[in-house]
Order: sequence, then structure tokens, then C-alpha cells
Amino acid sequence: MTITDALTIDDLMHMARRRVPKMFFDYAHSGAWTESTYRANQADFARIGLRQRVLVDMTDRNLASLMVDEPVAMPVALAPTGLTGMQHPDGEMLAAQAAEAFGVPFTLSTMSICSIEDVASVTTRPFWFQLYVMRDRAFVESLMARAAAAGCSTLVLTLDLQIMGQRHKDLRNGLSAPPRWTPKHAWQVATRPRWALGMMRTRRRGFGNIVGHVKNVSDLSSLASWTADQFDPRLSWEDVTWIRDRWPGKLILKGILDPEDARMALGRGADAIIVSNHGGRQLDGARSSISALPGVVGAVGDQIEVHLDGGIRSGQDILKALALGAKGTYVGRPFLWGLGAGGKAGVTRALNILRHELDVTMALCGRRDIRGIDADILDRLGDPIGAEVRRT
Ligand code: FNR
Repeated sequence: MTITDALTIDDLMHMARRRVPKMFFDYAHSGAWTESTYRANQADFARIGLRQRVLVDMTDRNLASLMVDEPVAMPVALAPTGLTGMQHPDGEMLAAQAAEAFGVPFTLSTMSICSIEDVASVTTRPFWFQLYVMRDRAFVESLMARAAAAGCSTLVLTLDLQIMGQRHKDLRNGLSAPPRWTPKHAWQVATRPRWALGMMRTRRRGFGNIVGHVKNVSDLSSLASWTADQFDPRLSWEDVTWIRDRWPGKLILKGILDPEDARMALGRGADAIIVSNHGGRQLDGARSSISALPGVVGAVGDQIEVHLDGGIRSGQDILKALALGAKGTYVGRPFLWGLGAGGKAGVTRALNILRHELDVTMALCGRRDIRGIDADILDRLGDPIGAEVRRT
């Protein structure tokens, strides 16, 4: 099977499973503890029905829109994901190039393999940078300064990982970057020769934004222990103001699920919030992103731009999120699976799959412009989540 044979995001996932060493494939395809929130993110999208409309002029359709005032070819950004350069050699650079060519934002994680400067060196338009707040505020300031110097237009501040949720697969797999050289890890790498060869050819195998930039960190392999030591568990709303005062560009707050937190986010100078549970990787048992969306939109949707991530696996899911009030969406695993399956071409394939599904679904709902999508396209009978938005 080649990349062009992939018709769905699921096809790309199966291809990635065959090409990426198990510990890194599992790192993406996992949630915290029982993974109930990870599963609910997808399952709750499937519960939402759409209204079929007929004999409506479907010519000249438009998917282009704005996210925090930036033009986007469709309202979908690539979510920040750690260790992306372990799904494919130089993964962040390739994904950023694919996103740029497609016309959607790429968000680089603090915990990336390729550095801010690496990504800037292969792109021509501004990308977005995701910030984790470390105890060492001088380092946080230097990260923001590097992102600004690289021309990043938007800072995505992640609020839901002050401490790390436990993912059983990572612990069982002994996840590290680069992989440790035990017989188990060597076998996982040896059985993925294309990946191994590519990794031998690149020098980017560690945490590019961190190693060499933080005092006393010349080597960093365990994400879990670094996170436990360095991430600031006292992070507060005052810190959001501290960051707002220092970041010159757009600011997006990521990881809000509760309407009360959404209200607290108002008035802090942020340009948008992302309804997100970190892809089900933090609080297992938290509600799905799509079921949380109506409550958040009801609470603050008229005062701040609301975005959503978590569980989007098709263009239909994107349309449903927009119908429930999101102005933008993000995909994490869908682009990671594309990357693992086929590098830059695989990310482009993932975006093309999503675009085609979004376009055809919008048309069959009788709509021609993505900017006018509202809850009217949802089927009221088979649609418990949509029913909730109409009550708020
Ligand atoms: C993530 N996510 C994440 N978020 C963040 O702010 N910084 C990060 O470094 C990471 N790292 C990360 C790694 C991997 C492998 C995954 C799958 C996710 C969360 C991510 O930004 C986003 O919230 C979810 O991926 C959205 O869910 P889907 O689209 O993957 O279902």
C-alpha cells in the first residue's frame, strides 16, 4: 500500500503502525490510564447526526476561513505534539513544510525533536509555537524570545499539563528519545529499517529546543522525568498575564474543558481558547472535547474565539465542531500517522483526506461556505450533544 492508496485517516494509522517503532507508535496512539477519555473523544463525534439537504446549488464552495485573524485554507491547524521527529526523521520540519504548502498553521511543541530554528530554516511563513511553562522562568523567556526571533506569529500556551498524566504504554515500553539500546528497543528499531536508516542520516534525535539551551542539560532522554522535574506545578492565571506581557504576537490558551475555567480565561488578553483534554492523555475520565464544546461556547463564545481539538478523524468531525461553535480545529494523531506512514507526503495526504471529507459533507448538508456553518446542519433527533448547545 502506498500513500496515495490511503483513503481514510485510519488507513494512514495502519501504515504508520508498520513503519514506526512500537514505542513511538504507541506514544501517539495512547491515552491516560484506562484511555476512556481518549476513546470518548472519537466516539462522541460519531453520536452527532447531520441533516441531509437536497436540490441546493452546490457550486463554488469555500473552505477558507480565519483562525485568530490569520487566513487558513480550511479551519484546521496541526496540533503541537512532542517527539514528532521520532515518528519520522526530521518530522517537525517535514510536517511544517506540508502545512505551509497546504495553507494551514503548524504548531511546534516545546518538546519537539527539531528545534524552533530548524523549523524556521525550512519554512518561509510564520508557524505557531506551543509553550510549556518551566520552573526556570529565564528559560521560558528565552524560548519566547527564540520563537519571536524565528518569526512565530502565535503562541499556544498549554494549561493542562502542569503535571503529567500516566500513560501505561509509555512506561511499559520504556519510552525515551533517542531510544535506549536494550535488546527490546533494538529489535523494535531493527524491524523498521527504513525508519532506522533515516534516523542514522539525521542529527536530530534529542529534544532540540532544550538540549544545549538549558544549563546542565546536555542529554535528555526521559520525557517523564524531565517533565516531573521541570514543569511548574504552581502555574496560575497570574502566569498567563506574565506571559501575555512578554509575548508580542497572538496568544491562544490550550486545554480548557470547563465553562468556569473558560470564564476565568476572559480578560487576560488571549485571542482564543482551545477546548481540549490533551487528546485524552491527561485526566482520564474527563469529558470528551466535543461534548464540552457547547458549554464553553455558551459561556464565552460571544467574547472570545473558541477552538477545539481531540478526536477529529475526518472532515465530518471538523464540520460538526464548527456547527457547535468552534471557529477553528486542530488535529494531532491524524497528521502524526500521516507523517509516520509517509513523511511530508503522508501529512499532505492526511490534510487532503480531511479537506475532501469536509468539502463533500458541507455540500451534502446544503452549504457552500464554511464561514456560515451553524447548528442548523445538525440532526436534532440523533444528536444529544447538539441538543445541549440549543439549551445553553
Ligand atoms: C500531544 N499533545 C500535546 N499538546 C501540547 O500542548 N504539547 C505537546 O507537546 C503535546 N504532545 C503530544 C504528543 C502526542 C503524541 C499527542 C498525540 C498529543 C496534545 C495535542 O496537542 C492535541 O491536544 C491532541 O493531539 C488532540 O487530539 P487528537 O487530534 O490527537 O485526537
